[in-house]
Amino acid sequence: MASEADEGSGGLDDLENQASRKDALDSLRMDYQELTDKAQQLLTEKLFLENEFDQLKKRTSRLEEELSNIRTPPLIIGFIQDILDGQAIVRSSNGTVFMVSVNRRLDSTNLKPGSRVALNQDTLSVVEILSDSWDPLVSNAEILDSPEVEYGSIGGLEEQIRELKEAIELPFENPEAFSKFGIDPPKGVLLTGPPGTGKTMLAKAVANSTKATFLGLVGAELAQKYIGEGGRMVRELFELAKQKSPAIIFIDEIDSIGSKRLDVATSGDREVQRTLMQLLSEIDGFENLDNVKVIAATNRPELLDAALLRPGRFDRIIQIPIPDLVARETIFGVHTKSMPLSKGLKLSYLASISEGFSGAEIKSSVVEAGISAISENRKSVTKKDFINAIKKVENNRKNPSGPANEGLYA
Ligand SMILES: Nc1ncnc2c1ncn2[C@@H]1O[C@H](COP(=O)(O)OP(=O)(O)OP(=O)(O)O)[C@@H](O)[C@H]1O
Ligand SMILES: [Mg+2]
Repeated sequence: MASEADEGSGGLDDLENQASRKDALDSLRMDYQELTDKAQQLLTEKLFLENEFDQLKKRTSRLEEELSNIRTPPLIIGFIQDILDGQAIVRSSNGTVFMVSVNRRLDSTNLKPGSRVALNQDTLSVVEILSDSWDPLVSNAEILDSPEVEYGSIGGLEEQIRELKEAIELPFENPEAFSKFGIDPPKGVLLTGPPGTGKTMLAKAVANSTKATFLGLVGAELAQKYIGEGGRMVRELFELAKQKSPAIIFIDEIDSIGSKRLDVATSGDREVQRTLMQLLSEIDGFENLDNVKVIAATNRPELLDAALLRPGRFDRIIQIPIPDLVARETIFGVHTKSMPLSKGLKLSYLASISEGFSGAEIKSSVVEAGISAISENRKSVTKKDFINAIKKVENNRKNPSGPANEGLYA
């Protein structure tokens, strides 16, 4: 019996064992299935990430290429003569013919014999296809949306504004009067004065107030972008101005192309010289009847070539001084117009403690004072804010690389 019972219980045990084994197996299967699913999922994820990684790698190398293109100006201009197996035969602007590679970024179907292209100065590879019409720099020069500077937002330069209007706007508005009186209105006006005194601002205000087409460029752009092309760009600029006349050409920071060069040895300097010569000949070439005026600005007039300042060229020089006490008060007024000031704070006081400040420095002080009030959660800007701000701006000028500089213009 005992053995039977043993057998019997052994049979039960077996059954139990089988059942639990089956359970275990089932759960193993389920685990296995789960793990397979997970593995599949991970595999898909891996593929996805690998794909993304590849794309990012491509993008990095594209960006790196672009960066190195940007880092290696100036560019040389050339004309495609022929295309052979992805290589280009190019005649550069000084007449030499090269076989060069073409940057992969470019759509080579647009490269045809005769196309005007920009070459990297070191490798000579073609990095840009240029349009045959106006240089983009020139055609973008037109200020379509008038800049938002108005004469009213310029403090303390009433006399200079009057002179500028007289020289530029009056001849456009009333040309007969000038011919009746037998006077030639000036062809060009040069704004000179220390940094941050409002020269660029003045030119923008002219652009805003005049109905004439306003073509604005920064001198360095003319000289630096393409070797051998500065002269052509000046020519195009004046042609465009004549087409769109009445027009005003504004060349900001003209010292970068109009400066005296004692040693014209490097190709960059020769380039500057050529651009300058072209500028002079364009100014000589147009008649007042062409209805084109030139305004130029510089904070380093002593660098300008005397040839630029001869009569018939920039024959009217308007000096923009560092603002005096009264002007400083007006400029503080302009920049604090929409700023809540604490009661009793007098602008005349601020003007009195900012002797020697340029308009730009006054603006920085106002911004700095405002920031300190905001950071302390105050509702208005106090005298103390201004005193600190003015000190900070002053220190910054005396010690431009010192610690006081940190964060000032951030
Ligand atoms: N007379 C002024 N009235 C009001 N704000 C001024 C005046 N002068 C300068 N500013 C302020 O300073 C900023 C810089 O002025 P702007 O660019 O016209 O100086 P700039 O004379 O052209 O200097 P730079 O010689 O360095 O080119 C202006 O945007 C303006 O906020
Ligand atoms: Mg300026």
